[in-house]
Amino acid sequence: MARCSGRLLCICLLPCVMVGHLIVYIMVSICITISYSPPLLPVRFVAPGTSSNSGTLASHPLNPFWKLGLEEGALWNQLQRFLDRQHNPILRGNRTWVKLPDAEDGRVREGDAGEAPADCRPDNRWASRLQDFNTLPEQMRDFVLSMHCRDYPLLTDQPGICGGEGQGAEAPVLLLAIKSETGNFENRQAIRQTWGQSGWVQGEAGGRGGLVRTVFLLGKQDPSAGLYPDLEALLELEKSQHQDILQWDFRDSFYNLTLKDVLFWRWFSLRCPRALFVFKGDDDIFLRTRSLLDFLHQQGDESGDPGQNSTERTRDLFVGEVIANAGPNRQPSTKYYIPESFYKGTYPAYAGGGGVVYSGDLALRLGRVSRRVHLFPIDDVYLGMCLHRLGISPSHHPGFLTFDLPASDREKPCAYRSVILVHKRSPKEMLRLWSELQTVPPPC
Ligand SMILES: *[C@@H]1O[C@H](CO)[C@@H](O)[C@H](O)[C@H]1NC(C)=O
Ligand SMILES: *[C@@H]1O[C@H](CO)[C@@H](O)[C@H](O)[C@H]1NC(C)=O
Ligand SMILES: *[C@@H]1O[C@H](CO)[C@@H](O)[C@H](O)[C@H]1NC(C)=O
Repeated sequence: MARCSGRLLCICLLPCVMVGHLIVYIMVSICITISYSPPLLPVRFVAPGTSSNSGTLASHPLNPFWKLGLEEGALWNQLQRFLDRQHNPILRGNRTWVKLPDAEDGRVREGDAGEAPADCRPDNRWASRLQDFNTLPEQMRDFVLSMHCRDYPLLTDQPGICGGEGQGAEAPVLLLAIKSETGNFENRQAIRQTWGQSGWVQGEAGGRGGLVRTVFLLGKQDPSAGLYPDLEALLELEKSQHQDILQWDFRDSFYNLTLKDVLFWRWFSLRCPRALFVFKGDDDIFLRTRSLLDFLHQQGDESGDPGQNSTERTRDLFVGEVIANAGPNRQPSTKYYIPESFYKGTYPAYAGGGGVVYSGDLALRLGRVSRRVHLFPIDDVYLGMCLHRLGISPSHHPGFLTFDLPASDREKPCAYRSVILVHKRSPKEMLRLWSELQTVPPPC
């Protein structure tokens, strides 16, 4: 009986005991909460990673938060980063910020990549930065030795070709700037007689047409290609006869073609800034100039914002055969070889150098921005780099055939119906095509 009542007592008391525990727990929790006060923090917060714990100085990071090291990267990339930094609008305010922490030998220093010095003689300050300099092909070595300079004197100017400064002078709608070299007399003459005729040119389908002017861009004969016959006197005769040659005092080699763009832009801003469009191309192409004029007028009339006038609509026009996602050629035996120690990365979208057309306004902007882009040995890639800096993408046009038509179509006039430019054509072929394409060719 007693055992039974003890068990009953246990069963009756258990809930009371549990409620009692709960009440004690709640009381204790309330007491702790009431009595809690947060620990006092020091007034100045000290960030981790700093040594400033004196308590009187505000803390500051020990190293700059942007990256200053230029150790990695190929030579061109280093020089370009340097130019970028010099023209950075945030850093530009105080040039001393740009100083590198330790400018010991083997690194790029401030001022090295800046404006070209007055002295344009070959200089081997960069050669030592390229471990494989001595094994590079000769043209690459020559480029590295002279890439600090882009200010070569103009030997022959044509100040009046765009009508000069005069009030009534009419600026050309289209300026053809053709890269040529001294020996190519025949190409230049064929161009003058065919697609490069200076003067008023009618659009193809009875279109509006416009004033066209042609200039040829020349350097000096290239002695590194071996002995050559002296053609200077003949060239002088040609200059006085036609007055369409611009010549600068630099060696006319493949890796120096970029200089022609840079120097042409400078000339353009002085002598021809009101031209509406510039076509830049080689002297071994065939251009359907009349068809190009139609295309340009059409761009001014139709494309873009209807609230703008034609000049505004074509402000950013840059058209050619666009090559995207290309990278440097690493085969030392090829013409376009770029060693890894010189350039790393891919190329921006660019247009094949056989021929491109862009607005006069863009030519002026390209000239300015090119000061901030380090010279690169391949001219069409360089043009793509400058465009990229301006935030403009080149537009592709299927009529720009810098890699020519399929071989089976080259003889058929009808295949040229939608073509604006083909590469490449000899002087004789230019004359024949010109006579065949006097009228719009029929569809095939
Ligand atoms: C540029 O910065 C340096 C170091 O920070 C300073 O000594 C110099 O006075 C500054 N120059 C100007 C023009 O602000
Ligand atoms: C470019 O021209 C300059 C001046 O004539 C010359 O010193 C340099 O060697 C040339 N560069 C190349 C790659 O031919
Ligand atoms: C087009 O508009 C711009 C600015 O709005 C002006 O400067 C330019 O003269 C105009 N061009 C023509 C051909 O009307």
